[in-house]
Amino acid sequence: MKIALLGGTGDIGTGFAVRWAANHEIIIGSRKADKAKEAATAVMQMLDGKGNVWGTDNGSAVAAADVVVLCVPYEHLVSVTSDLLASYSNQLVISPVVPMSYNGKFFQFVPPKEGSAAMQIRSLLPEGIKIVSAFHTICAAALQAKDRELKADAFLCTDDPEALETVSRLALEIKSLRPLNAGPLAVSAIVESLTPMLLNVARKNKIKDAGIKIVSER
Ligand SMILES: NC(=O)c1ccc[n+]([C@@H]2O[C@H](COP(=O)([O-])OP(=O)(O)OC[C@H]3O[C@@H](n4cnc5c(N)ncnc54)[C@H](OP(=O)(O)O)[C@@H]3O)[C@@H](O)[C@H]2O)c1
Repeated sequence: MKIALLGGTGDIGTGFAVRWAANHEIIIGSRKADKAKEAATAVMQMLDGKGNVWGTDNGSAVAAADVVVLCVPYEHLVSVTSDLLASYSNQLVISPVVPMSYNGKFFQFVPPKEGSAAMQIRSLLPEGIKIVSAFHTICAAALQAKDRELKADAFLCTDDPEALETVSRLALEIKSLRPLNAGPLAVSAIVESLTPMLLNVARKNKIKDAGIKIVSER
């Protein structure tokens, strides 16, 4: 597949690029095409030249892709989504976006009026675009360490079974990561709100590159 990483010059975008470049064409998007090209070169170096990673502006990245991952901070989600509407046709959109704030002491979930970043994206994108809310509790630093096994689970929310299958397969390409169906897009707020909880726990208990795993006690 062709996977566009919007704002893919940042932390989580770099992580997805190094994990998915073995099996997919990776298009790093940026507000500035030159910055995207530099980021693509850096990712190719991390991969010892193996893979097909290139960079362009965010709009061209969307237009060229089958799958679009919104790798931008929540504050810029509306502008990045609205400004690029003309570039969308029938891509599958993945949102790892967490609307949260930090007051210097702790993180808090600060959802928009739609209830979650995913539901806000749903309200902005055309109905035909499938959306999967996923990867909110996956640490970018752990993703970027391309050979590291992730012991965590990835929680996926979507209304579309086929999209769930596609993104589950992408999650399985990340060593030892387990994709779990977390329900429809309407409950994405629950999953998104796990991130500030995870970051608070990690800070208070000095846990590096923290993740979340569901265990069965049977
Ligand atoms: N970091 C993590 O561990 C992690 C884990 C799970 C989920 N997430 C979520 O993933 C998303 C990205 O996180 P991140 O840590 O990768 O973010 P980041 O590194 O801080 O930023 C990602 C990219 O956003 C773009 N950007 C910055 N300002 C912008 C603006 N005004 N308008 C449009 N784009 C702008 C930049 O790309 P250009 O300058 O190239 O345009 C930047 O490289 C967030 O929503 C976060 O909640 C992050």
